[in-house]
Amino acid sequence: MLRRPRRNRRSSAIRGMIRETRLTPDHLVYPLFIFDGKNIKDEISSLPGNYRMSLDNVLLEIEECVSLGLRSFMIFPAVAEKLKNKTATYSYNSKNFYLKAATKIKKNFPEITLISDVAMDPYSSDGHDGLVKNGKILNDPTLPILGKMAVAQAKAGFDIIGPSDMMDGRVQYIREALDKAGFSETGIMSYTAKYASAFYGPFRDALDSAPKAGDKKTYQMDPANQREAMIEAELDTQEGADFLMVKPALNYLDVISLLKNNFDLPIAAYHVSGECAMLIAACQNGWLEYEKAMPETLTSIHRAGADVIMTYFAKDFARWYAR
Ligand code: PBG
Repeated sequence: MLRRPRRNRRSSAIRGMIRETRLTPDHLVYPLFIFDGKNIKDEISSLPGNYRMSLDNVLLEIEECVSLGLRSFMIFPAVAEKLKNKTATYSYNSKNFYLKAATKIKKNFPEITLISDVAMDPYSSDGHDGLVKNGKILNDPTLPILGKMAVAQAKAGFDIIGPSDMMDGRVQYIREALDKAGFSETGIMSYTAKYASAFYGPFRDALDSAPKAGDKKTYQMDPANQREAMIEAELDTQEGADFLMVKPALNYLDVISLLKNNFDLPIAAYHVSGECAMLIAACQNGWLEYEKAMPETLTSIHRAGADVIMTYFAKDFARWYAR
């Protein structure tokens, strides 16, 4: 035998020398759920170890995460039912607690990157990402609402706007709205290939944002499609996106790799709530070892081509990395 691949696996030092993928806390974004009020920290039962928190606790959480080396956060609002309506007006209301929270977070932690979520669902009495009329999700009439939401978020201090709604043309609409309002430096991380996935359950529990009727299949992508992600990525690139995101991550590693190989923009992957919940459940049952399965999972997403990973394991990874 002339070739023996095992020679390069002989010692930890050799393995370290030739390791192809190195994930660090810099690559991770930690999603947090924010609730209006004070002194609230409710665990999300379908996502153990994650909480719906009021701003005071979110600030403490971010402080701890920053000390562990995390620098990027994404926040999602859990909005009271009585503030929701058909047109999601609360989303850009200046009294919106989510916007006020962003301003406070950036004031206390100016060096972090704060990423928003743009979609109607947390604010919509229909629970859909777009405007609903006669059971249909309207595309073009949704765009001005998303535009207003994005500008309000930029004003509040978000560094990057995250449209997760999957309406056609929204990246360009938001880019132009931001530029017109003087926010040409505010970035857009587009949820480019967002699939109509069964793995968003714990997230919808956290925000009470499940659709009241129907499903999201007329706007989110069919999990069976790979080539269609190329169309979305081309459009988002032309429309001015700064990042292309694939969501979920683990069941879509092929899509991450496809976009990485065909586009020059940074690729993000959202390791979604249901994907994290599965692993947590297996570990709680003693079927898998968290300290090993968690970094392996995140490394596989990075290896597939994701430059940035949004994951509920970010804090645990940062702790693990420090050791
Ligand atoms: C809302 C949104 C969703 C997620 C992020 N933004 C849910 C959905 O589309 O129904 C899911 C994230 C997760 O499951 O962790 N537009």
